[in-house]
Amino acid sequence: MTRCDDRQLEAVAARIGSRLAGSGRLTLLTGAGISAESGVPTFRDMGGLWERYRVEEVASPQAFRRDPQLVYRFYNLRRAALADIAPNAGHQAIAHLEQLLGDRFTLITQNVDDLHERAGSERLLHMHGELRKARCTSCDGVAPWLADLDGDSVCPACGKATLRPHIVWFGEVPLHMAAEIPRSLETDVFISVGTSGQVYPAGGFVAEAQAAGALTVEINLEPGETSSLFDLKLHGPAGEILPPLAARLADSSEDPTG
Ligand code: OAD
Repeated sequence: MTRCDDRQLEAVAARIGSRLAGSGRLTLLTGAGISAESGVPTFRDMGGLWERYRVEEVASPQAFRRDPQLVYRFYNLRRAALADIAPNAGHQAIAHLEQLLGDRFTLITQNVDDLHERAGSERLLHMHGELRKARCTSCDGVAPWLADLDGDSVCPACGKATLRPHIVWFGEVPLHMAAEIPRSLETDVFISVGTSGQVYPAGGFVAEAQAAGALTVEINLEPGETSSLFDLKLHGPAGEILPPLAARLADSSEDPTG
């Protein structure tokens, strides 16, 4: 695997910087690759590794009906594992971009970990849900949930033992699709980080942003499924590419001639 060189990075930063100059908006989409350098396995890596099951076989409403204990246990293990990991330089650089741009910045993540929050991101849409929350199938209430979850766990809102992980499973509609995400894709710059582009609707965001006139940038270890759609590409580890990219954008935003 080769990492893009400094000249490429400089050129991409200049193109992004000129689109953001003045009042340009940036929307950034992340996938499992942003958390890989924190030690979280990516989805394609996880397939087959978890007790003979593919992720798709435990992450579905059918699986939860068929064997709720299995599904609770899968997410309990993943929730518990969050205690042993920390945000990496990529998460931190994204939080830095938000500080720079304020309301002109939106982060959409497909990840269910909380590493973006822990790095300081606030304008954040978790389209596939959050491991550290539980949802009630009776009242639809969503509550923070740090402990293990099982069929006896009681909803703090309605008191019924009908809680499930607050995770969007295969076959379910991702969150924030009605308004926030479509609005955020009407942007000046769209950057996709660490996602294979294989899962929709997120895999289609690059085309939507482009149709709205955005400059589109792929940052990924290797070309993803939708790589050919992007205007600009930087290939290599996100934790090595994002910090110098954010630093250059910060410099150009401070440069009155830039
Ligand atoms: P994938 O596992 O499909 O893709 C991760 C991408 O990150 C791959 O293209 C890797 O090359 C890239 N990658 C790995 N390490 C990286 C690094 N250090 N820096 C940059 N890129 C790196 O994960 P997602 O695209 O996030 O959905 O998967 C999308 C959705 O599919 C997930 O949210 C999940 C899954 O099924 C649901 O659970 C609904």
